[in-house]
Amino acid sequence: LSRGVSAPDLAGRHVVVSAGGTREYLDPVRFLGNRSSGLQGYALARVAAARGAEVTLVAANVTLPDPAGVKVVAVEDTAQLRDAVLAAAVSADAVVMAAAPADFRPVTVSQDKIKKAEDGSSPAIVLEQNPDILKHLASQTPRRSVVVGFAAETGDPSGSVLELGRAKLARKGCDLLVVNDVSGGGVFGSPDNEAVILGADGSQVSVPLGTKSALAQVIWDEVARRLGP
Ligand code: CTP
Ligand code: CA
Repeated sequence: LSRGVSAPDLAGRHVVVSAGGTREYLDPVRFLGNRSSGLQGYALARVAAARGAEVTLVAANVTLPDPAGVKVVAVEDTAQLRDAVLAAAVSADAVVMAAAPADFRPVTVSQDKIKKAEDGSSPAIVLEQNPDILKHLASQTPRRSVVVGFAAETGDPSGSVLELGRAKLARKGCDLLVVNDVSGGGVFGSPDNEAVILGADGSQVSVPLGTKSALAQVIWDEVARRLGP
């Protein structure tokens, strides 16, 4: 079979994919969120299923149809995402964190809708950091699954997109990090993506601009090479 045609090389494997962006509620109607559409995570789930894997897709606020043959677990906030991913990861051969968890959540969540103050003053939102799911997954010992992270970077004075990616890979301790350059913002909601897949073993695979499904195929190729017998 040629590349792009699905070989059942993931048959007998259980893979977990997270997708979408978490929402951290301030009150019953308002939240802090992000621009992740879930398209890349859904493409990963679809491709893994086509390659024979049993797939658990943990979806945070995604409005896409459920991929056929995939178990979808819907979540909203980062705590729920963590619980669902960690539960599914217990029996997983690979976990791919394509979701964008909100880094922070409000310290207090109002039970009632927050009203504007009579005196015209503006409220302050106090935030606390969310748990790092990827880092937690990667630090588990003994670890039986291949752990993959994503990083959307813009590059900044402290480093180029790839330098930041290498540093993040080391910080997270995962096996693979899929690095996107999001300087233009064009990747969000787009059917296309372009990335460099960095490996903890020093590998670097560039995937030219193409569909998110095409990128998913290369990511699973890299995962498949790292799976145990
Ligand atoms: N991630 C995670 N848990 C979090 C935040 C991020 O598991 N609380 C995962 C994402 O799903 C992604 C990877 O970590 O696979 C990198 O996310 P990113 O936002 O780039 O990493 P951060 O450590 O949050 O760094 P930054 O300050 O650049 O946002
Ligand atoms: Ca982040």
